[in-house]
Amino acid sequence: MRVDVLTLFPEMFVPVIGASMLKIAAEKGLLTVSISNIRDFAYSKHRVVDDTPFGGGAGMVMKPEPLVIAVENALSEGGPIEPTQRRVILMTPAGKVFSQAKAVELANLRHLVLICGHYEGIDQRVVDLVVDEELSIGDYVLTGGELPAMVVIDSVARLLPGVLGSELSAGDETFAGDGWLEYPHYTRPREFRGRLVPEVLLSGDHARIARWRRGQSIKRTLARRPDLITANLSLDDKKCLCTVMSEDGKED
Ligand code: ADE
Repeated sequence: MRVDVLTLFPEMFVPVIGASMLKIAAEKGLLTVSISNIRDFAYSKHRVVDDTPFGGGAGMVMKPEPLVIAVENALSEGGPIEPTQRRVILMTPAGKVFSQAKAVELANLRHLVLICGHYEGIDQRVVDLVVDEELSIGDYVLTGGELPAMVVIDSVARLLPGVLGSELSAGDETFAGDGWLEYPHYTRPREFRGRLVPEVLLSGDHARIARWRRGQSIKRTLARRPDLITANLSLDDKKCLCTVMSEDGKED
């Protein structure tokens, strides 16, 4: 997959794309991230990228010419790709809220162009002419679309086949498939500052461990994110939950 990022602050991306999983994805040739400075596409004398809003009001608006040319350049750099295989996305708090399902959808494409908005917004004609989709990473306002773009890149990159060590890792977690939050994890030592690893995890009884994990996931989801629960619990899920509640109900 190729990802083009259009930003006024390219330096923000350097440490992120050069570390951890994104670095590995790039080294394995599974992901190419190209960062472009929108200012490089501003051909006016002073390379101006913003201007006052028509109609008045506070703040500045990003001008259409540099952005549209930057998008066109990114699309041509991506080479000849079916339009259905690429997506031009504007990061904005006014967009649809990004989700794991959207990450999965984007991970199936070949080319993403992410526009990082700034100032009060961008000229609407950019959206009308070249943007396919507007995405927000949540109901809060950041100073720009850079951090949201990094969130999208990270969540999409880890879904690309071959990026994570184990293919199981991306599928067995919160939001991945069945919509439950992830169960708690433990590793060595068995006792830490007086706290013991739950006995069931040391039992070697795989069916019992699976039921315990399922029950923990359901318990957490009910307590923290009941909005994620869209269907009635199955009889089996109720049994897992009852077991967990009776085993560790005294602690929580
Ligand atoms: N730009 C500023 N805030 C944002 C948000 N929450 N999501 C996406 N882009 C943004």
